[in-house]
Amino acid sequence: MRQEGVNVQPHELIHGPNSIKAKVEKHEELAAIHEELAKLRTDAILKEIRSVAYDTAENWALAAEFFDDQTGQHCFRVGHLAGMLAREIGLENEYCVRIEHAARLHDIGKIGINEMILLKPGPLDPSELTAMRAHAEVGAFMLQGAKDPVLQMAAVIAKHHHEWWNGAGYPSSLADRRIPMAARICALADVYDALTHVRPYKGAWPHRVAVEEMLNLSGVQFDPHLVRPFLRVLERYVPALADGRIPGLDQLKTNGLIASRKKLMETIAGSVA
Ligand SMILES: [Fe+2]
Ligand SMILES: [Fe+2]
Repeated sequence: MRQEGVNVQPHELIHGPNSIKAKVEKHEELAAIHEELAKLRTDAILKEIRSVAYDTAENWALAAEFFDDQTGQHCFRVGHLAGMLAREIGLENEYCVRIEHAARLHDIGKIGINEMILLKPGPLDPSELTAMRAHAEVGAFMLQGAKDPVLQMAAVIAKHHHEWWNGAGYPSSLADRRIPMAARICALADVYDALTHVRPYKGAWPHRVAVEEMLNLSGVQFDPHLVRPFLRVLERYVPALADGRIPGLDQLKTNGLIASRKKLMETIAGSVA
């Protein structure tokens, strides 16, 4: 057997499996693998950071809606309904998944609104109304510049979910298709859910009455092309909600933020009484 490095012919240094050329190629291959692994690790860390960013934003949104809905279910239901409507009109899966999460953050800007306004049982006076309406731009401001596509969509929804199809909404008085699609979808989900549940300023409307209202507002507040598909969604959604078959809704009961805020409210109420 020939000893390594001994009696090596010159051509073997250039062409053989142990040639310098082969060793350099092997080294380059390993370096490329290392680089790829480092990139995968970076992607995983970025994904983790983005998910933490989303979770944080969702907690802000839950806190923002706390005075309207102490269960956190409004945000969740709006997201779920928005996702169902996006699927109903045939939007691609990625968009549907994205809007389901993004729409949960629609009212995140309410975190900046005075509680006395949020809790007022009667109609708001003009200055209170201006303050309340600011939540759309506050929400967009909070989410602007996000790298995560869900948060980017959420910023658009936060800003435009109170625009009206006829241009009478706020904050930008956009009309018809100039209102971003995600905001048009979210508007239907948000209004239906708000109408059919108790708010500080109103009782829960029966489903049938809420549907009549949605139809009346088709082409006024809502995109008329979305209202009929939304009513088809409700035919599946309403029985599923009544039977507790909306996946994920129950998990909100164990949300730490909601539990801690409830505890805080009870403590304050106890110390005042
Ligand atoms: Fe809102
Ligand atoms: Fe809402």
